[in-house]
Amino acid sequence: MVDPTAGTAGPRLVVSGGRRLSGQVTVSGAKNSALKLMAASLLAPGTSVLHNVPDIQDVRTMQEVLEYLGAVVEFVDGTMTVDTTEVQSHVAPYELVQRMRASIQIMGPLVARFGRARVAMPGGCNLGPRKIDIHLRGLAAMGGEVRSDHGFVEVTATKLRAVDMFLEYPSVGATENLLMAAVMAEGTTTLENAAREPEIVDLCKFLISMGADIDGAGSSTVRVRGVTEMRPAEHTVLGDRIEAGTFLIAGAVTGGEVEAAGISPHVLDLFLSKLRSVGVQVHENTRSIRVSGDPDSYKAVDVATLPYPGFPTDLQAQMMVLLSLAKGVSMVTENVFENRFGFVDELIRLGADIRVDGNHAVVTGGRSLTGAIVQCPDLRAGAALAIAGLVAEGSTELREVYHIDRGYERFEEKLRNLGADVERIGQAGAGACF
Ligand code: EPZ
Repeated sequence: MVDPTAGTAGPRLVVSGGRRLSGQVTVSGAKNSALKLMAASLLAPGTSVLHNVPDIQDVRTMQEVLEYLGAVVEFVDGTMTVDTTEVQSHVAPYELVQRMRASIQIMGPLVARFGRARVAMPGGCNLGPRKIDIHLRGLAAMGGEVRSDHGFVEVTATKLRAVDMFLEYPSVGATENLLMAAVMAEGTTTLENAAREPEIVDLCKFLISMGADIDGAGSSTVRVRGVTEMRPAEHTVLGDRIEAGTFLIAGAVTGGEVEAAGISPHVLDLFLSKLRSVGVQVHENTRSIRVSGDPDSYKAVDVATLPYPGFPTDLQAQMMVLLSLAKGVSMVTENVFENRFGFVDELIRLGADIRVDGNHAVVTGGRSLTGAIVQCPDLRAGAALAIAGLVAEGSTELREVYHIDRGYERFEEKLRNLGADVERIGQAGAGACF
């Protein structure tokens, strides 16, 4: 049947089901570290160098943000140089923040170095309202004067001062903004109930190489002793654990054997133990993880997303696909975002049996999926729908694939290299917010 709207759908991915994936995929640098490292470079005048930076839409958007501020950015073959000598603006405009919420991570560095940041307030998005109240309360506690007008939030401070702060929620972004604000504050800042994600440890390593004095990175209590100045540094971005988990699930659902290289298994501990509970064979090496298994033997398990080291919310959608195949009834509970089941309706259109009740999704597994046209509601859900297409009978056409392009480098190429039948129709495009 010819799809009458084919010409109007924008860039799409067409995935044909039925192929077992096998082989090795090297993960790219972590999106959720690279974006913050780029922001952190604002803390020091001069040129910082970042290696293993993924060439994805969100990195290009953050490059635009830095260039808008006056930085000079070169980005070739995964190596990025950021010269912040000429940075003179402190404003992140609406169209950039609307496109990428992570633009707000420039607040901490700008206030720390220049005493001022004016950032368009990020709107809500597909995952929920995505507030920044914890960021702003922390900056205010450090002596920042916080005002909002015309859809912007502005923070000014003659000199930030160290504080002892208990975060009401271990927010990843708030922890990062406050860490960056604290590195040159007078005195010692203590962040209690800080986020513990590996990407925060990566950021702290970079900050320390810039001259910061930080203890407790990766624990719930982080201490930052303010220094008088920061200097440019060089750093290699750690591997993307979410990309690794995405490809491991792709291997598991197809009954193939896939190895994700460039990743330390310990950053995915709970996720890997859940895969084992389902019945997936998991083999861990120092810098790689290999999975294999027979989908007919997979069993239902319950999954609840939590801040790190809990089960990652960014792998919830991908896990839902695996559970749709596993025999039995699984309960998936989303504790991090208010609305992260937006893709369930699309998965149901492929034949999954899922009932959503609040932040719980009841998945009745043992299903056979059939291909259809589906819409990607966000980055990780888009990847999950591609995974579903790998096992659905017939072909699955994913629309709104710009979401995938925001966070996965060469996504379809990596899938093809593992044996998948997937092709892109139309060009990659800029993404929307979240
Ligand atoms: C980061 O988002 C990641 N993004 C997200 O990955 C990830 O899902 C999330 O952390 C949780 O791990 C980047 O690093 C760019 P949060 P962030 O602040 O920092 C609420 C992906 O797919 N909250 O920990 O925005 C918030 O509304 C993306 O790569 C407040 O209420 O996450 C949410 O419900 C998706 N007030 C929860 O906390 C605040 O001031 C988690 O948010 C801040 C957050």
